[in-house]
Amino acid sequence: MSSISTDSLPYFDPAVDRRVALITGGNSGIGYYTVLQLYLHGYVVYIAGRSRSRVLKSIKELKEKANTITKDYEIQNANTNLTSPKRCLGELVYLEIDLSSLSSVIAAVDTFSNMESKLNLLINNAGAMAVPYALTRDNFEIQLQTNFVSPFLLTTKLLPLLERTADLYPSTEPPRVVYLSSIGHKFAIRFFSLNTSFNYRPNLLFTWLRYGMAKTAGIHFMKMLALRNPKILCMSVHPGFVMNTNLFTYWTRLPIIGILFWCFFQIFGYFLGVSNDEGSDAIIKCCLEPKLSLENDNGKYFVTGGIEAEPSKVASNMDYAARTWIWTVHELSERGITIPN
Ligand SMILES: NC(=O)c1ccc[n+]([C@@H]2O[C@H](COP(=O)([O-])OP(=O)(O)OC[C@H]3O[C@@H](n4cnc5c(N)ncnc54)[C@H](OP(=O)(O)O)[C@@H]3O)[C@@H](O)[C@H]2O)c1
Repeated sequence: MSSISTDSLPYFDPAVDRRVALITGGNSGIGYYTVLQLYLHGYVVYIAGRSRSRVLKSIKELKEKANTITKDYEIQNANTNLTSPKRCLGELVYLEIDLSSLSSVIAAVDTFSNMESKLNLLINNAGAMAVPYALTRDNFEIQLQTNFVSPFLLTTKLLPLLERTADLYPSTEPPRVVYLSSIGHKFAIRFFSLNTSFNYRPNLLFTWLRYGMAKTAGIHFMKMLALRNPKILCMSVHPGFVMNTNLFTYWTRLPIIGILFWCFFQIFGYFLGVSNDEGSDAIIKCCLEPKLSLENDNGKYFVTGGIEAEPSKVASNMDYAARTWIWTVHELSERGITIPN
């Protein structure tokens, strides 16, 4: 259950203190509720997604939801004669990105950099889980690219903007990067290597390993970034088991046995799951909690409700983390993309 009240987190007036966030995959599931909270807290939120129509539909719904919540807040204040501070909504903007294409990621960074001169929050939320083996046009396994390589590229390309934001606004909290990992990172067992042939073996069981590898690499990435860029607060999150999102649709739509998977996920969710908005609590805490600091929290891993936890031994291993960094920079350079030192 949630350990935080989002009401206690800071609210901003975008006309006075413009805060900018970029989130991938904010049009559905946990990302949707994360966007809702950020928007209610006055953030200008860029929702980066691969389908313009899906993102625009979610923007419309989010605006309606936020207006209702704000009206309720005002009525409650009027009824109780409280002089609670006025709350201003932020802005919602669509940004095109397809994480299965490195060139799309670079184009999104260019578009964003032309539109904004600052970035306070980057949330690498979009992901795919346990989908069948496929290679992207960049020749990465699909889960590895969607869950890790593209978020790595997006973040490292946006680093100059994040650093500039830290330098230009030294009196505000440092910019933050939040990476959506998963407890499933624990599927990645000993002898971690992104070169492993598991990654390229088209077998349904290995698909869970591939998910675990990608989500472990993401934790490595946050730990390395925290070491390399001490001006930016980087954290990984397991949001909780949120069993009704689109993450599970490959399994629930399988012919005949899909219904069995659906039943299993529902029962599992009933006992161990949380709702979508509770799933977003851990992310919102990592984004907005003023008590989190560069000195104490950089590189850490948080779980459901924003509770600090230890990731697996493989994910905590800094030798593996360094190898993950080097491997990724090398693979990107093989594809003509340079990541500055
Ligand atoms: N749900 C859980 O229990 C759970 C547990 C642990 C971790 N997580 C992590 O939480 C994150 C959000 O998951 P969710 O449960 O909210 O799932 P979801 O509803 O399926 O959301 C995933 C989002 O990622 C986007 N996406 C997928 N592939 C993309 C691509 N190639 N380019 C751009 N966007 C892409 C999807 O966009 P479209 O709408 O266009 O498909 C969607 O907006 C994921 O990283 C997941 O691994 C979830």
